[in-house]
Amino acid sequence: MPQSLEQQMYTEPLLHNQEIVDPYFGEFFTLMRRSLVSGGSELGLGMSLFSLAVSIRATNIIEIGRFKGFSTLCLASALKFLDIGWQEPLQHKQRPNIDYAALESAKNRRLYSIDPFPTTEADSLIQEACLTEYVEFINQRSQDIDLEHQADLIFIDGDHSYEGCKQDVFKYVLWNLRPGGYFIIHDYYGWYDNQQRNNSPIKAVADEIIAEGVFQHLLIDTCYPSFVVFRNPNPQIDT
Ligand SMILES: C[S@@+](CC[C@H](N)C(=O)[O-])C[C@H]1O[C@@H](n2cnc3c(N)ncnc32)[C@H](O)[C@@H]1O
Repeated sequence: MPQSLEQQMYTEPLLHNQEIVDPYFGEFFTLMRRSLVSGGSELGLGMSLFSLAVSIRATNIIEIGRFKGFSTLCLASALKFLDIGWQEPLQHKQRPNIDYAALESAKNRRLYSIDPFPTTEADSLIQEACLTEYVEFINQRSQDIDLEHQADLIFIDGDHSYEGCKQDVFKYVLWNLRPGGYFIIHDYYGWYDNQQRNNSPIKAVADEIIAEGVFQHLLIDTCYPSFVVFRNPNPQIDT
């Protein structure tokens, strides 16, 4: 069975992450801390994925690059939290072009998680977190499949070559991202040379997209690999 580059990486013992956190922060934070591994994403990325998916009330999410399931956990947890729901005071519902009844209605929420190298860790994590109903595991290369779904959020963290990342952006953002939806590309920093230069291929892709000026964007600098959040324009709402 072939392995991804990330599967060959070693994680040193991170003992503090194994401790149960204060119950106030609950099981989700405990699972997040426990799931930090070499080759996976940093905690700040997971927190942001969860927050963004909840904030935009995501129904469909596409994740490219699952590895041991850290980002999968955070995105699927957001869908679960959205299903539990909450109430906003009427005073918050002021925007004339938003159908609040439709926005807040029950939905069939789904995370399409794409990775050609499935791991038992990701399967177990999603089962342990009781999130299986939210995740469709697609164990193929992102370029070998065509999804029909319109996504509210696309998280791109798969093939980290310049060409691979660019292809994912082209294919999935053009075909699968709804107007007003968001996409994130992870690993803006990395691939340092001995002159301490950041040679991240993901940075090269991100900088090109930024230079085109089509998408609003924000670099979230977590002091670890970090990521850029882009927003697809929505002419109906943005004017
Ligand atoms: C950096 S890891 C993903 C980390 C994960 N998102 C997290 O938050 O921990 C990259 C993953 O992308 C997967 N991958 C590589 N090429 C891919 C492709 N063409 N399509 C989808 N996934 C790919 C690898 O198997 C690996 O599991």
